[in-house]
Amino acid sequence: MRDGDVPTVQEIEKEIFSTPWPRNAYYRELASRNTAHYIVLRRDTDIIGYGGMWRMYDEAHVTTIGVRRDQQRGGYGRIVFAALVQAAYDLGAKWITLEVRTSNDHAQRMYENFGFKVIGRRRGYYTDNGEDAIVMWSDSIYSPRFRKAYEENLARIDSEVAGLRREPPLAGR
Ligand SMILES: CC(C)(COP(=O)(O)OP(=O)(O)OC[C@H]1O[C@@H](n2cnc3c(N)ncnc32)[C@H](O)[C@@H]1OP(=O)(O)O)[C@@H](O)C(=O)NCCC(=O)NCCS
Repeated sequence: MRDGDVPTVQEIEKEIFSTPWPRNAYYRELASRNTAHYIVLRRDTDIIGYGGMWRMYDEAHVTTIGVRRDQQRGGYGRIVFAALVQAAYDLGAKWITLEVRTSNDHAQRMYENFGFKVIGRRRGYYTDNGEDAIVMWSDSIYSPRFRKAYEENLARIDSEVAGLRREPPLAGR
């Protein structure tokens, strides 16, 4: 993610989050190059998803992830999350943590597919409606169990992307 991507990321945020971050928060994050890692997923030139992570010593903490509402359920969230997991390896982290709303079953399911487990709950964490946060973590990202889940997701991404490439061009174009 670059400074120039922030307005589009904000547009997506407003569509999918009840409490989007203020624009300055993104610029601040992007300036914190030693600890913060933010990415966007583009299809052609359009940004369709994004995600962010902080690295603090052995821990990588996922701060945000989102996919445009009309593009959800197309496998893009999996691609963004896999890229964050890869970043955790590249940044030398040993485990990954994140918080997710208790009501956000879809995101929780995605994290579980990557081998994440629930390790706690923060009561009233979300200030807009007082909802609890579920805290999830990866355990060691070097454990065979986590690596296997990660590799299965990568294989799934490869086959989905190959499928997209095989789709014939639309008639008349
Ligand atoms: C969570 C989010 C990023 C997932 O992105 P996505 O592109 O819709 O997800 P994908 O199509 O890549 O699916 C990945 C997995 O997520 C889960 N999932 C996503 N949408 C789901 C849905 N509507 N119903 C059930 N499971 C769902 C599934 O486990 C899915 O794996 P599967 O294909 O094997 O079933 C997206 O829904 C989003 O932006 N939500 C709003 C913002 C948000 O809640 N962010 C997370 C904050 S913690």
